Amino acid sequence: MTAPLSRRSFLRMSSLAAGAAAIGAPLLGEREMAMAAMSAGMQKVAATSPNAVMINFNENPLGPSEAARKAAVELLPQAGRYLHPLQDELAELLARQLGLSLDAVDLYAGSGIALDATTMAFTGPDAPLVVADPSYEQPTQMAAIRKAPVHKVPLRKDYSHDVKAMAGAASNAGLIYICNPNNPTGTVTTRADIEWLLANKPKGAVVLVDEAYIHFSDAPSVLDLVAAGKDLVVLRTFSKLYGMAGMRLGVVAARPDLLARIQAFRTGGGTALPVMTVAAAIASLKEPGLVAQRKQLNASVRDDTIGWLRSKGYACTPSQSNCFMVDVRRPGPGFAAQLAARDVVVGRSWPVWPNHMRISVGTAEEMRRFKTAFAAVIDGKVPVQKVADTSHLRSADFLALA
Ligand SMILES: Cc1ncc(COP(=O)(O)O)c(C=O)c1O
Repeated sequence: MTAPLSRRSFLRMSSLAAGAAAIGAPLLGEREMAMAAMSAGMQKVAATSPNAVMINFNENPLGPSEAARKAAVELLPQAGRYLHPLQDELAELLARQLGLSLDAVDLYAGSGIALDATTMAFTGPDAPLVVADPSYEQPTQMAAIRKAPVHKVPLRKDYSHDVKAMAGAASNAGLIYICNPNNPTGTVTTRADIEWLLANKPKGAVVLVDEAYIHFSDAPSVLDLVAAGKDLVVLRTFSKLYGMAGMRLGVVAARPDLLARIQAFRTGGGTALPVMTVAAAIASLKEPGLVAQRKQLNASVRDDTIGWLRSKGYACTPSQSNCFMVDVRRPGPGFAAQLAARDVVVGRSWPVWPNHMRISVGTAEEMRRFKTAFAAVIDGKVPVQKVADTSHLRSADFLALA
């Protein structure tokens, strides 16, 4: 398997993330947040070790399905055109599959852009954001740009969102963010809780349910509540189960009046999407059994890894997703650095849970290497000093690594 990031881009991102952190600017997106949380040693491994196990971005190691790859490649010769009819075909197919009318669905080049636009649209100095803690940080960072107050509500003991506390957190709340399943815990909040929140939230607030990981879980979607006209925005992405993170495609579902408010913050001057991505998405949606097959594979590797960690005495969150948190009972970043010294790059720790690390589910072989490295760290084994293979590096990389 090739390394998911080029070394040059990894090095560039490391310095961007460090620079943004230094001036207090927000770090937008999974990648930037992961980079900012990585120690210099971990960044070095990720940047220089092509065979490192990269289980730090919640990516899908399988990549796009065979049919999606074929569709993208076949479309390449036409990529000199915007191909709006193809985009319309995708929107219609999605709307049909999701049980929504066409005017309740919008497409963006990644759900992260839509997440930003939604936060911009519904938060502000007098319209706070309410989020769970720990949860995905991107809305919190965008709220800082909006100068919107942020209310962080701890997850309940069962790791679900505490919807009662979230509904009561701010009477003037603009946006309440529910990530279901939650990133980083992989845990699920029940539909009954989301229905309760919609019925009991402050009047002017919009509820944003981020279903980026829902395909991996048994949690029922709340898309039908969009169709029912609720104050609800639902996000989906092709980055996770469909394995298309690098191809960039996200879906926003909401009432047309809410979509228009989000649309006002869409950057890029138009709605055109990468055409090969559109072709790959259509092929993915038409592939029978793809979701069930990938869901089952992810669950079996995840449950095996969690079972192993628990057998060693390390508590894990009861995940239904492609990531989970493990409590390593000592500072997570230090533990992660020791794994990185063994060529295994894991996810970040959240300030509210400093002794946990987020683990993304890789292939069975990657998780075997993760277990070996984890066992070596807890056994206190000293990592073998490797002579790094630097033949692929250019002189500029050496300077950046110095
Ligand atoms: C919960 C959640 N929402 C949204 C995103 C953004 O995904 P993308 O922009 O790749 O669609 C991520 C990325 O990791 C995520 O974890």
